[in-house]
Amino acid sequence: MPKTLLIKNGTIVTASDKYVADIFISGERIHTIGKDLSVSSDQTIDAKGNYIFPGGIDAHTHMELPFMGTYASDTFETGTLAGLHGGTTTIIDFAIQTQGKSLKSAIDEWHKKADGNAVSDYAFHIGVTDLNKNTKLEIKDIVKKEGISSFKTFMAYKGALMIDDRQMVSLMNEVKKYGGMVTTHAENGDMIDELISESKINGNLSPKFHALTRPDIAEAEASGRVIDMAYQGSHPLYIVHMTCEAALNRVREATKRNQKVFVETCIQYLLLDESLYESQGFEGSKWVMSPPLRKEKDRIALWNGINQGLVHTVATDHCPFCMEQKKMGLNDFSKIPNGMPGIEHRLELLYSEGVLKEKISMNKFVELTSTAPAKIFGMFPKKGTVAIGSDADIVIFDPNVKHTISAKTHHHNCDYSAYEGWKVQGKCKTVILRGTVAIEDGKALIGKGVGKYIERSPYNKDYAEEKELVRSL
Ligand code: URP
Ligand code: ZN
Ligand code: ZN
Repeated sequence: MPKTLLIKNGTIVTASDKYVADIFISGERIHTIGKDLSVSSDQTIDAKGNYIFPGGIDAHTHMELPFMGTYASDTFETGTLAGLHGGTTTIIDFAIQTQGKSLKSAIDEWHKKADGNAVSDYAFHIGVTDLNKNTKLEIKDIVKKEGISSFKTFMAYKGALMIDDRQMVSLMNEVKKYGGMVTTHAENGDMIDELISESKINGNLSPKFHALTRPDIAEAEASGRVIDMAYQGSHPLYIVHMTCEAALNRVREATKRNQKVFVETCIQYLLLDESLYESQGFEGSKWVMSPPLRKEKDRIALWNGINQGLVHTVATDHCPFCMEQKKMGLNDFSKIPNGMPGIEHRLELLYSEGVLKEKISMNKFVELTSTAPAKIFGMFPKKGTVAIGSDADIVIFDPNVKHTISAKTHHHNCDYSAYEGWKVQGKCKTVILRGTVAIEDGKALIGKGVGKYIERSPYNKDYAEEKELVRSL
């Protein structure tokens, strides 16, 4: 007999509904949702006064990423556990090809890091850094056998990750045959490399020059260019970590020719700005990431873009480095490992700063953090909603608890917090992963290896957009 769990009296919120009901979970999936359910269960939770929403899906993380001469400091174990504390039950991490090696070897490498270690569920995007005739031949099997339908490209980081436009077009044309979608880090790598080189010649080496050498126009230009490349072949496209008004306007422009482009932003680009790079001494290195934090006007454009339907998901780009690692660039900003921690705080920050400040609705909150990534990346309705037949990945959220974010209390394997001292209201009180209580009042009840690898379906326009779906019970 599968174990059973009954959650009573919670306010269930999905991307479209908000209502009070009970949820009966049998084994790993939601069995019944109804008013005043009278069933016996192994465990009962009274969720009166709390929200119940689907477990978060963070579509952009980098656990143990080998990058800029070091490794991101969270492993799949520590990083997914931090995510669970903050209500994220599934991540999509990037398995990144080493130039000169096959795509399959990257997938094998990432499985070695994640399998038996991840605490939450996980899936992979494949990062294509070296497209040639052999790697092209691998694409079909990656979609059909590996359960990976999104192909990440970099338009920056030349010499390590960047591909050129010809490779981009070729990749788009190839992945389309099998229902894959290209996703892109859109920054003009050549423009940036020249600006970095000039900055260094002029002796401008402190962290703030990281931002000054990666201007918004470099992001806008690359965004516009990749949008055009997708348009030429009527390809779906997902732009990762968009930061600014100038890039968003390229997306807006594309809608005038009826092109649909999926846009991800990250919680830091909604909440933080470039003034942090002026922090004393080397402090600014904490927020050195690419693209960098922007101006207040860009944050406003992103919030508006959400409500205009131009921004579809909010992720984290979780890629932490401890201060000792950041110090690799103490005397040269271009050597500071790019990235910052954030997976644990995405939901609580977006609720506090977005929902409570009336920038977004509660339904939009669920859509951005769970439903849209599930649909766009081929996991819906297994993931991304609270519905009969879906995986019982559930957050019981107390909207009244106030707390302060700090490196002293977070679960990231990182010795600083990018949000140190931020006061938030609302807490992921109970987090349930496939029917098992994973987090209860700040305590982890599960550990290493409980997370499952999630094979994703090919990109499907109807799934990614608004079509009704049939669940198997
Ligand atoms: O600075 C960042 N974003 N680091 C992670 C790699 C990437 O570009 O996403
Ligand atoms: Zn990136
Ligand atoms: Zn990233």
